[in-house]
Amino acid sequence: ITGNLYMYQGFWHQSMRRISIETVMALQETFKAHPKDIYLVTLPKSGTTWLKALMFAIVNRNRYKNNSLSTHPLLISNPHDCLPFIETEIYRNTPTYVHENEPRLFATHIPYNSLPQSILESGCRLIYLCRNPKDVLVSMFHFANKLRDKSGGTMMAFEEAFESFSKGVMPLGPYWDHVKGYHEVSLEDPRKVLFVTYEDMKMDTVNHVKRLAKFVGYPFTEKEEVEGVVQEIIRLCSFENLSEVNKHGNLRDGIPNNVFFRKGEVGDWANHLTDEMSQNLDRITKEKFHGLDISFNQG
Ligand code: A3P
Repeated sequence: ITGNLYMYQGFWHQSMRRISIETVMALQETFKAHPKDIYLVTLPKSGTTWLKALMFAIVNRNRYKNNSLSTHPLLISNPHDCLPFIETEIYRNTPTYVHENEPRLFATHIPYNSLPQSILESGCRLIYLCRNPKDVLVSMFHFANKLRDKSGGTMMAFEEAFESFSKGVMPLGPYWDHVKGYHEVSLEDPRKVLFVTYEDMKMDTVNHVKRLAKFVGYPFTEKEEVEGVVQEIIRLCSFENLSEVNKHGNLRDGIPNNVFFRKGEVGDWANHLTDEMSQNLDRITKEKFHGLDISFNQG
């Protein structure tokens, strides 16, 4: 779907990009996880930006409680600048957290079997956010074309994106293998990996935000619930709010802020896939997820 791809440990990776095969290898060599770290794991276009915003808001809620609302980092910067990927952090010299005894929050797209060993051994927690493959495909198609448009490249046809996705050929793909890797561990060790879907989060955001907070050791108190703190966080991280804040400007590494916000809906695939394409992807998903309890609520 985007440029040349290279197979490494069973997954496709880009090269010489901000998230690439070189960074995965470098992280495997050097990355040191802390037992308190929290990792947000996704395939691109599965709702990474939303999850980053929610987790940043949950974990830091007391830090910004007394500030005037307009100075909250999520009201002035992109969630990707608030909560970094380990893939990009490796090239920065800045410390990623300043407060001792507090967890470091990171995101990553790395497949489970390619994670740096220290993440697997350190006892830290992982949240895996998964999204319906058809919506991931559509979202990725638009994202790739927006970036191609910005850099003067040729637009890709949807059929081309569909073919490539169905064969598993996309950055960090095959989609199904990525999902299965984390799903397996979430069953074996539910305290290590919490598995959630974009569709469930959209359908019942309140309960999922509570679940996320509890999983990482920041449960909401009864007082907070009565005061409406959960709803405040949901509003702060809503598609409407974040897309407005990020209408202009670029990320620290130059990508335009607004490319991470398109529709933010469940089921937009129905406006892109033919019946035949939809049935094909259903068939592949059924085969690949055979015997697994992975399903996507269609709202
Ligand atoms: P669509 O292209 O379907 O609109 P990622 O963050 O992993 O790159 O995923 C991007 C997708 O998440 C896009 O989906 C984007 O619109 C959606 N998204 C971004 N912010 C969101 C939010 N606050 N709530 C729900 N969806 C959001």
